Amino acid sequence: MCGIIGYVGKNEAAPIILDGLKRLEYRGYDSAGIALYKDGRFHVVKQKGRLEALRAAVGDTPLAGRIGIGHTRWATHGEPSDVNSHPHLGAKSRIAIVHNGIIENYRALRAFLESKGVVFSSETDSETVAQLAEYYYRGDLMDTVVKVVNAIEGYYALGFMCLDEPDRLIAVKKDNPLIVGVSKDGNFIASDVPAILSHTNQVCYLADREIVVLDADGVAFYNMDRERLEKSPETITWSLGSAEKGGYEHFMYKEIMEQPRVLRDTIRSALPDGSNAAVLDSLDVASFDKILITACGSAYNAGSVGKYVFESLCRIPVDVDLASEFRYRDALIDARTLVILISQSGETTDSIAAMREAKSKGAKVLAIVNVVGSTISREADYTVYTLAGPEIAVATTKAFSAQLALLYLIAVRFARALGKLTAPEAEALVGEISELPTHVEALFAQIDRVQYYATTCFNSKSIFFIGRNIDYAIAMEGSLKLKEISYIHSEAYAGGELKHGTISLIEDNTLVVAISCCKRLAPKIESNIVQVVSRGARVLLITNDGANPGAGLETGTGAESAAEEAAGARQFTLTEPTVNELFSPSLSVVLLQLFSYYVAANKGCDIDKPRNLAKSVTVE
Ligand code: G6P
Repeated sequence: MCGIIGYVGKNEAAPIILDGLKRLEYRGYDSAGIALYKDGRFHVVKQKGRLEALRAAVGDTPLAGRIGIGHTRWATHGEPSDVNSHPHLGAKSRIAIVHNGIIENYRALRAFLESKGVVFSSETDSETVAQLAEYYYRGDLMDTVVKVVNAIEGYYALGFMCLDEPDRLIAVKKDNPLIVGVSKDGNFIASDVPAILSHTNQVCYLADREIVVLDADGVAFYNMDRERLEKSPETITWSLGSAEKGGYEHFMYKEIMEQPRVLRDTIRSALPDGSNAAVLDSLDVASFDKILITACGSAYNAGSVGKYVFESLCRIPVDVDLASEFRYRDALIDARTLVILISQSGETTDSIAAMREAKSKGAKVLAIVNVVGSTISREADYTVYTLAGPEIAVATTKAFSAQLALLYLIAVRFARALGKLTAPEAEALVGEISELPTHVEALFAQIDRVQYYATTCFNSKSIFFIGRNIDYAIAMEGSLKLKEISYIHSEAYAGGELKHGTISLIEDNTLVVAISCCKRLAPKIESNIVQVVSRGARVLLITNDGANPGAGLETGTGAESAAEEAAGARQFTLTEPTVNELFSPSLSVVLLQLFSYYVAANKGCDIDKPRNLAKSVTVE
């Protein structure tokens, strides 16, 4: 995953590249580096650790130059270290490169180059590209790039600079994202739009194996036969402000608070005349006899909620599969299968592969994507967009909520098209979904209680999440969120499954978060709660008045319930408004997000950039 940026133009490149790297840091933050060309040589600074470390190092080494490349790394091949950081130079320091992705045949290439006497300085797969480029270079960088692309296997976004062609940058991509920004003051390559948005909103997208050549005056696109391609820039309509913290301490918190607006926008987009309506209208729902939802991480959890909603409303079989598993399992799908692919970034490697696998079997792919212009958005048969805006915190919140909302609305549409709902029934459900943003706003009145309760459990070794049916699906997201950002071990279990193993892990004071928003299943979860409490657990119950009459909507500080807990109740309750149980995950998840946030904050974790993770996973 890693982020890359390059600039050539009229201005000093270092501040532009460092600023861009700051906005790409969510893609990886093990190390960072920058290379500028000036006066006949490359000036390179690379530093293990966060971008601040690179900034400090650059501060001691004034960097000048109007052309350069930068990189922020999420380590794959080779530990995080100065030497394994990018940019990488060839042994003769003639070519400098930055790379996002994995060169799968790097061992063979490295052995070949070493047999020719090339001495490597790092353990990375990426250095192979720099060394190979120098090996091939015969005075024409574009020719060299073509040869490199023909030799390497894997996936990549690559930026190249060459000492002998000091006015130009060349970039190419396959399977990993790369955008090209154009402006009168200079031109850019970057892994995504926010990295360059303060300089230009004019952006071109590169397709796989297309080459872009940039100099200060313009950009030119080529295919691998070096034939010129015509591309016009698209205008990015959102502003950088939406990718900034706006006074909040963390992006995650800001993004949690943005959810009512994101839900409103996304819901509107799927209503008649909304921006997603035409695509949804064009789907011939009756031509499918099965739905398969596939995704990774939180998007997979959204899909797990979706399964319950689609099966309940459309009465059509739905499978949910992790994209990384689906791609290799030779799934039984065909032209009568609709594959719904969910991805915030639209660039997750496993999800892209799942999409291609599904298409190769004749299935139609409907993608739910947040990032406009991303690989999945362009390659899917049908694409609808969540209107979450840029999501910066590595742990997703608002994009997840937007995915749920779109899944609900798509399910209602399909159910209507399949004749499983009457028009008034569908209308009533859309009305209920449209109320969700207001209910989420009401939930914010419980923030003090969540915050209070988090102070009582941030020292937990393990936290278990239980639920049944659709509450189990959202329990999985609660558990993932908690472990991602607080590093507390956690697992989600279907309530009924506890007795088959997990209950042996319950000890005195183990925290169990129980989600119980389905009225018909509330007594079952209640039994599970009794089972764990009698073995010493304490319970955080997330419920509603419908499932637990009398639960009410407490908005105090939590201290009063604490007193109750201390008096032996062993249970603390967070209550959400009662809605149709199919849509209650949209409310439960907000409480779960806030709970994880405050637990992590109490532990002093780096909430927006949890260790070892990256937002956009462009490796297998
Ligand atoms: C990473 C992120 C997760 C995300 C998953 C899928 O693991 O850390 O938050 O859910 O990738 O990403 P996507 O962009 O495809 O939704």
